[in-house]
Amino acid sequence: MKALLCKQFGPPESLTVEEIPSPKAGPGEVVVTVKAASVNFPDVLIVQNKYQVKPPLPFSPGSEFAGVVKEIGDGVQHIKPGDRVIAFAGYGGFAEECLAPANRILPIPGNMDFVTAASFILTYGTSHHALKHRADTRPGETLLVLGAAGGVGIAAIEIGKVLGLQVIACASTEDKLAVCREHGADATINYATEDLREGIKRATGGKGVDVVYDAVGGPYAEAALRSSNWRARFLVIGFASGEIPKVPLNLPLLMERSIIGVYWGEWSKRTPAEFASAVRELGEWFMQGKLKPHVSSQYPLARAAEAMNELAGRRAKGKVVVVP
Ligand SMILES: NC(=O)c1ccc[n+]([C@@H]2O[C@H](COP(=O)([O-])OP(=O)(O)OC[C@H]3O[C@@H](n4cnc5c(N)ncnc54)[C@H](OP(=O)(O)O)[C@@H]3O)[C@@H](O)[C@H]2O)c1
Repeated sequence: MKALLCKQFGPPESLTVEEIPSPKAGPGEVVVTVKAASVNFPDVLIVQNKYQVKPPLPFSPGSEFAGVVKEIGDGVQHIKPGDRVIAFAGYGGFAEECLAPANRILPIPGNMDFVTAASFILTYGTSHHALKHRADTRPGETLLVLGAAGGVGIAAIEIGKVLGLQVIACASTEDKLAVCREHGADATINYATEDLREGIKRATGGKGVDVVYDAVGGPYAEAALRSSNWRARFLVIGFASGEIPKVPLNLPLLMERSIIGVYWGEWSKRTPAEFASAVRELGEWFMQGKLKPHVSSQYPLARAAEAMNELAGRRAKGKVVVVP
């Protein structure tokens, strides 16, 4: 089978597509024939040795994929060969077949197609966990989403609307902001052309925001925190800008604001029952037409590095998918 291989850490263009032996399922493992795999920001980091998960070399990136179960190992009960599944294995998805632990594999909700299924769990799961469990949002609150046209960003807009929030989406181009409005944003700020604090004042009539969803980091973080209200919750999602912000701790003190870390992957392993119930809820919302994953481009496996560079180069809107 063909696989995109990371043989030494480096940028996506250093990856090669090679023929390697098909994997075999050991106890508690599953081999999936991959039909579609989406690019997530951690895929760009993992091949450069800049991510918290560090697989042994050589490995294939591709944290999330959808496909058909080819083989199951001893002890696997909840799925069988031929089942349509979503997998979030952390890596291995940019290949024709992938081996994954059975507890990282779920049935595809309803009749969702493979490309959509590959674009669903990680981004919607993260934003659902962040807004519902970590920020404990209440209907009517105002949510500010930084990097709102990205994978987790669009999911945060849509889930924010399902939870009854007023959503302000921030992104760097007018095209990206148009996509945010299509997915439900009530107001938008172009933080490349307008000062973020001024934009928040304009969008909230001077009231400020109750929840900040920050997938970008860098200088926007402090500006957003300063524009947040009494007892606001600031969700630390990621640092796509490459800069981990350092904020003065008087900002949480003065307004009883909370800075809250979100680590969906770890949470999903530590609390499998809560995770399963979150996935069920997301599947129901999808089936009810409340969630509409945005896939902006698709690439064959041979061009998977270009797919990763679309994200790394800040050009992607929503999800970019590799179809082996
Ligand atoms: N905490 C968790 O559990 C969790 C789970 C999943 C992902 N994440 C993290 O969330 C972040 C976003 O992930 P994603 O998959 O949604 O990525 P994505 O689709 O690439 O979105 C990231 C957004 O960040 C903005 N950005 C600003 N500066 C950038 C730069 N220098 N390079 C690239 N993008 C830049 C871009 O929007 P503009 O151009 O509009 O600014 C882009 O749309 C990543 O840091 C990822 O590791 C965290």
